[in-house]
Amino acid sequence: MGSISFRNVDKTFGAGAIKALEGINLEIADKEFVAIVGPSGCGKTTCLRMVAGFEAASSGDVLVNGKAVTAPGPDRAVVFQQFALFPWKTVRENIDLGLRNKNLPAAAREEAIAGALRLMSLESHADAFPHQLSGGMQQRVAIARAYVLDPVVLLMDEPFGALDAQTRVVMQEELVRLARRNPRTVLFITHAVEEAVYLADRVAIMTRRPGRIKEVLDIRTVRQSENWDSHPKIEDVMDLESFVHLRTHIWKSLREEKGFRDV
Ligand SMILES: Nc1ncnc2c1ncn2[C@@H]1O[C@H](COP(=O)(O)OP(=O)(O)O)[C@@H](O)[C@H]1O
Ligand SMILES: [Mg+2]
Repeated sequence: MGSISFRNVDKTFGAGAIKALEGINLEIADKEFVAIVGPSGCGKTTCLRMVAGFEAASSGDVLVNGKAVTAPGPDRAVVFQQFALFPWKTVRENIDLGLRNKNLPAAAREEAIAGALRLMSLESHADAFPHQLSGGMQQRVAIARAYVLDPVVLLMDEPFGALDAQTRVVMQEELVRLARRNPRTVLFITHAVEEAVYLADRVAIMTRRPGRIKEVLDIRTVRQSENWDSHPKIEDVMDLESFVHLRTHIWKSLREEKGFRDV
C-alpha cells in the first residue's frame, strides 16, 4: 500500500547551479518507519518534498506504492517543523482543513475529525485557537490534521525540532503510540540522532551536498535482539549498550561529513 522508492534520483536546482541530490536509492516498505539524518543542506527536505509531490526529480524515479509521484495527493500527509496552522481558525477547523479535498459527506467528516481529536488527546481543545496552545499541543494539531486524511504515507520534516526537550520526548512517545495503533509508512527527518534511533525501524544517513545515502542502519533488528522492541520510555533505553553503540556510530558517520558543523 504505502511503499516508497527512490530509484537513482538526482535533483538539481536553478539550471544546474546547485546539485542537491545524487543517485539516491532507498526502498521503504509499507508501514515501515524510516528516519533520515544528515548535515544541513544535504537534501533531506528535498527528498521529502519529492515524495509529497511538491518537487520533481531531475532524473530517476520517486514512487509511492509502485506508482511515480507526479503531484501531491491525499494518500500522503506532511507535518512540518513549523506547525503551519491557520491562526484564525480553531483546532477543529484546522483539522477540518486537512479534509478539504476529500469531498466527504458531513457526517463522515465530523466522525473523522472526532477521531483525530481523540487520537491526539485534543478533545478538550477543539474550539481553542492555536495561540492559546503550547508548542507541543500545536504540533499535536498538525499531526491530527495529517492523520485525519487517513494517509498511507506520513511525511515528517523535523516535526519536533521547535519543541523544548521535555515536550519533544512526550511527542516522541505519542508518535510511537500512534504508529502502533495506526501503523503507517513514515518518512521522518530529524537532526536529533537519539530521536532517530528511538523512533525508527531503519535510519538512513546522508552525505553532505550533493546528498547521497551513505549508510542505512537497521535499528529494528538490534531492538529485537536486545529486547527493547516494546519501545519503553526513552530514558529506559538510552543507556543500553546497543542504543549507545548505534548513536555513537551515527554521530561518527555524520562527523565525517564536511558539513558537520552545520548539523
Ligand atoms: N527551491 C530551491 N531552489 C534552489 N535551491 C534549493 C531549493 N530548495 C533547496 N535548495 C538547496 O538544495 C540543498 C538541499 O536543501 P534541503 O533539501 O532543504 O536540505 P536539508 O533539508 O537537508 O537541510 C540546499 O543547498 C538548498 O539550499
Ligand atoms: Mg530540511
